[in-house]
Formats: sequence, structure tokens, C-alpha cells
Amino acid sequence: MDLLIKNVLPITGDGKTPVDIAVSDGVIRSVGKAPEGFRPDETLEGGGRLCMPALINAHTHMYMSVLRNAADDLPFMTWLFEGVMPRENKMDLDQAYWGSLLSCAEMIRRGCSTFNDMHLFPGAAAKAAMKIGMRAVVNRAVTGPEGGERRIKEMLGEIEEFKGCKNVSFMIAPHAIYTCSTEYLLKLADIAEELSLPVHIHLSESVAEMNDCLRDHGCTPVEYLVKIGFFKNPTLAAHCVQLTETDILLLAEHGVSVVSNPKSNLKLGNGFAPLYQLDKAGVNVCLGTDSAASNNSLNMFSELNYAALIHKGTNGDPTVIPARKAFEMATVNGAKALCIDNLGKLEEGWKADIVLLDTDVPQMMPIRDPFASVVYACDGSETDTVIIDGKVVYKHKEFTTIDTEELYYHIKQITEVI
Ligand code: NI
Repeated sequence: MDLLIKNVLPITGDGKTPVDIAVSDGVIRSVGKAPEGFRPDETLEGGGRLCMPALINAHTHMYMSVLRNAADDLPFMTWLFEGVMPRENKMDLDQAYWGSLLSCAEMIRRGCSTFNDMHLFPGAAAKAAMKIGMRAVVNRAVTGPEGGERRIKEMLGEIEEFKGCKNVSFMIAPHAIYTCSTEYLLKLADIAEELSLPVHIHLSESVAEMNDCLRDHGCTPVEYLVKIGFFKNPTLAAHCVQLTETDILLLAEHGVSVVSNPKSNLKLGNGFAPLYQLDKAGVNVCLGTDSAASNNSLNMFSELNYAALIHKGTNGDPTVIPARKAFEMATVNGAKALCIDNLGKLEEGWKADIVLLDTDVPQMMPIRDPFASVVYACDGSETDTVIIDGKVVYKHKEFTTIDTEELYYHIKQITEVI
């Protein structure tokens, strides 16, 4: 399938000079002029919109969008164990599918092409992504030893079921150090090694987790995982809010990627990851939304904005995490953390996950620096068209692959019982 996107302003340009982008079989073939003899199956008139690589949500919990606004303004452990878990334990696969599809729709409307879903129902998230045309990394968050063997069996069954599905990949995800024993964590690291899959874990998210770890293991959560030999696979650690200087060096030394979820961390009163220090130490840092149960939205533009601003404020230095750096965190760094090659740049040979943003709105005028426009001025409502894997899944603010009326009908039904 050949697609020609005409007359767009690339984010890497000067904000004034339009280009055409040629796409063949999901890959960008040229940015500038279409190659000689290029005969597109579809031509999309860009209308002078700003064009950027799609955003990557490197940590979320897809089905939990049906729990939006169900447990707010609560302490973290109360939110988790009393607000969220009793509700999600009642959910079935069909409800999780609609919840996941709702998340997909929300993310696409805000310029995101790829998500990393962790927790229950990875199969529902994968099916929703395939239906709408998103790129999905899914992982079952497992806990143990109690019930742990059953969960591993279910996890392996899901990996088998979706093996070979286009644009769906897996990670192995022990939920957290406070829900998994040492032996169980190591067993999962072994499984990941055997299957050559990366690992995803919640880590150092709250003061409670840090204090419990110091009490139980005499060291920080990061030191504990280093000590037991957990970091032997490519690993993505979610949150990393509570870190010591030694933790930061250890994460860099072991090549662990960190996904920060600024809005969720702030809302749960947990603080925020020291992104500037992590990046300076050489850690691959990316961004996620966490779930709509704690965020309460899945808007990566918002995360981008928070990530760029918070660290200037807390470091007392406006030069830290400049717009381009924040944008890398929301795109190419996310792809690296999820082990997806050639994703997150608007360049020849890279995957064609492309977003067109309206420029005929006040906050996009004038565009002196496209990166600054996207990071500091956009709120995501500018998203006009989204192309994923070379296919137009959202065109002039309309979905091309799903019926939103049907989706909203199911969400309203589910909300009655969950
Ligand atoms: Ni999370």
C-alpha cells in the first residue's frame, strides 16, 4: 500500500516550508519530494498542517478506562487496594475489551499510535488494538507465589494466542516487588530470558514501597533488584519516583529504561521521577499516562507538557529538559524502551506512524519553533489525522475503523455494573 501525504510542515522543519511524505507498506520512503514514479494508492491532502511522528504511551492499563473517576483523591495504597482492585476483579474479558477500545480511541484522538499495556486482560488490549489499528505491546502483570503458577500459565497461553499477530508484541511483567516474592521475580526473569522478551515492572512508585523495602530487605527497591540479579533482560521500570543517587547510577549501569507518568504520580501524591538526573546519567527515559483510573485521561500531549515543565521548576533551571528532549521521551525513547525498531522519527526508513496537527487554531500561531509549539502550546485537540503503520485510522477527526456510538453504548452499560 502506497500513501502520499501532501503539503505538510514537518516538526523537524522551520514551520514554514511544506513537504510531501511518501509511505510504502507502512514505512516512510521519503520526506520532501515523492520519489520519481511514485504512484500512491491513496493521497492525503495535508492542508499545511504540522506533521510529527506519533506519540508513544510506554505505560498504561488499557481496560481501566472504565474505572475513570471511580476512585479519586485517595492515598495510593487505598486507591489501589480499595478503589481499583475490587472493581477490576469483577470485570470479564468482554468488558475489558470495550474498556481497552475506549483507551485506544482516546489515545488516537490525542496523537498516539503505540501503547504498552500492563495488568489483567492483555488479550483484550491486543484485540482492541487490532480492531482500531494501533500498535500494541501487552503484558499480563503477574503476582505470586500465591496463585502465581496459574497466572504464569495464563500469561504463556496469551503469548501463544497472539504470537505472530501484526503490531502486537509482549513483555513479561511482574507487577511490583511488593506483590511478588524474590523467587517469583527471578522465575519471571528466567521466563523472559527463555522467550527473549523484555521485562516491565512497577518500581519505586511510592514512599510506602520504599519504606517497606528498606524494612524487609535493608535496601532500596532498585538495590534489591540488582542484588537478586533481576536485571538480566532488557527492562522497563515504571514510575521510579523514589530514587536515591545510587539508584540512578544502578539503573544506568544495568541499562534499565524508565517510564515516567507525571500526571498519575502527581495525582496520587507520589511525587515524580527525577527525569533530568536520570537522563543525565544516561538512562533511557520515556513517558506514559498510567491508567485513566489514576490520571484521569490518556493524553500524551499533557504528559509531554508536564514532563517538560515540572523539572524546570524543581531544578530551578529553565534549560533542563528542553522541548526537543521532552519530545524524544514521548517518541523515540518510548520505542527503544518497548524494543520496537525504527519507530518515533519522521525520517526515511522509519515506521509510518504519523500525526497531522491543525495549525489554524490560535495556540498554533505563529509556529516559530515546531517542537516548542507541540510541547508547550498544544493540548492534543489539534490532532486532525493519525496514520499508523501507513494506514489512516483517524481522518479529519473521524475514526475510520470503529463505530464510536457502539463503543460508547457498551461503556455506559459496563459503568452500570462495575
Ligand atoms: Ni501503572
